Amino acid sequence: MKTPELNLETDKDLCGQKTIITYDSDSNIDYQSLEVGTIVKYHLSNDLDILLETHPNAWTPSSLFSLTMCELVAADDCRGKVVMDFAGGLGMFGIVAGKGGAAQVIGTELNPYAVTLQGSNWELNGLNPKDFQSFESNCFAAIQGNREIEGKVDRIYLNPPALPDTEEKLQARLKFADQFRGEEWNRNGDRGRLVMDTLITQGSSYLAPGGEILFIATSKNGPRLTHRLMEKYWGKGIQSDSDNPLDYSINWEERGDANWAVVHRINVALANYHTEFVQSYQKLADLEGEPSPFIEEEANLYQQLYFIRAKKA
Ligand SMILES: C[S@@+](CC[C@H](N)C(=O)[O-])C[C@H]1O[C@@H](n2cnc3c(N)ncnc32)[C@H](O)[C@@H]1O
Repeated sequence: MKTPELNLETDKDLCGQKTIITYDSDSNIDYQSLEVGTIVKYHLSNDLDILLETHPNAWTPSSLFSLTMCELVAADDCRGKVVMDFAGGLGMFGIVAGKGGAAQVIGTELNPYAVTLQGSNWELNGLNPKDFQSFESNCFAAIQGNREIEGKVDRIYLNPPALPDTEEKLQARLKFADQFRGEEWNRNGDRGRLVMDTLITQGSSYLAPGGEILFIATSKNGPRLTHRLMEKYWGKGIQSDSDNPLDYSINWEERGDANWAVVHRINVALANYHTEFVQSYQKLADLEGEPSPFIEEEANLYQQLYFIRAKKA
C-alpha cells in the first residue's frame, strides 16, 4: 500500500532539527504520535543504547512487548548469525542483534514508512549498511522463493501485530485514525493472528538447520490454538498441566528433547486501544473453549504474554 505522502526526506526537512528523547515507561508521552523525525533513545538493561527515528505512521516500540523481547534478543548469541526481524517495525530487534554481532540482518515489514526507517535506523546505530537489507512484505510474501534467504536464516524474531481485523476494529480505527495512523498498515486477519500464524506455519522453511524462532503469543489470541499449531508445525513441545497449555515458562536449556517451549511469561496491562475488543475476545474464547483471555486485578485488565522459542528439527 504505497502512498504519495511517503517521502521521509521531505518530512525531515519540514521538521528541521531532530529531537532526541529518552524512552521512559512511566511517562505519559504518546510514543505513537511523536513529531516526524523524533529520535527515541532506549536504554536497555545490559547497558545497550538503541536509537530509533520514528514516524507517526509507523509503530514505535512503547511497551514491555518490544522491550522484553529486546532483552531476550540481547541475551541470545547472535555472533556471526543471519537474523530476521519479521514484521520488524522500526527495526529494533535487528539492531540489537546487529550490535550483538549478527553477520547479516534481514528486516521485513508491511508498512513502507517502517521499511525506510529500518535502513536509516540501522545506520543511526553505527551499524554497517552492507550487513542489512529490508523488504516491504506482507508476511513472507516478498521473500518467498528467494534462494539467498530461504533455508539460510539462523534466528527469526517477532513481536506480532495482534488486534483483530473485525468490522468493529475498522470502526475503531476510524476513531483512532488521527493519533494512530500506523494501523492502516496492519493486516492481522480477523482473529489478529495472521502474522504470528504465518510465522508458525511457514517460518521453518526460512530457517537453516538448527535455526530458531522467538515470538510473542498472548492470552487474548487463543493459547490452546497456538499450542495446537505449535505441536503441528514444530513437533513436540512443553505444555502446562493447567487449563492453559502455555501458562508456564522454563529455561530453554532445560527443555530436554522438546522442540519448543515458553521461555518467558509476563502479565501486561491491556492498552487502551484494546478496550473496544474486550467483549469480543471474551466471546470468542468462550465459544472456542479457550481459557479466559484476561486476568483482572484491582479492576485492571491484564493480558499474559508467552515468549515462545522453537527450534527447527
Ligand atoms: C506490534 S508491531 C511490532 C514492531 C516491532 N517488532 C517492535 O516490537 O517494535 C507489529 C508490526 O507488524 C507490522 N505488520 C502488520 N501487519 C503486517 C503484515 N501482514 N506483514 C508484515 N508486517 C505487518 C506493523 O506495521 C507493525 O510495525
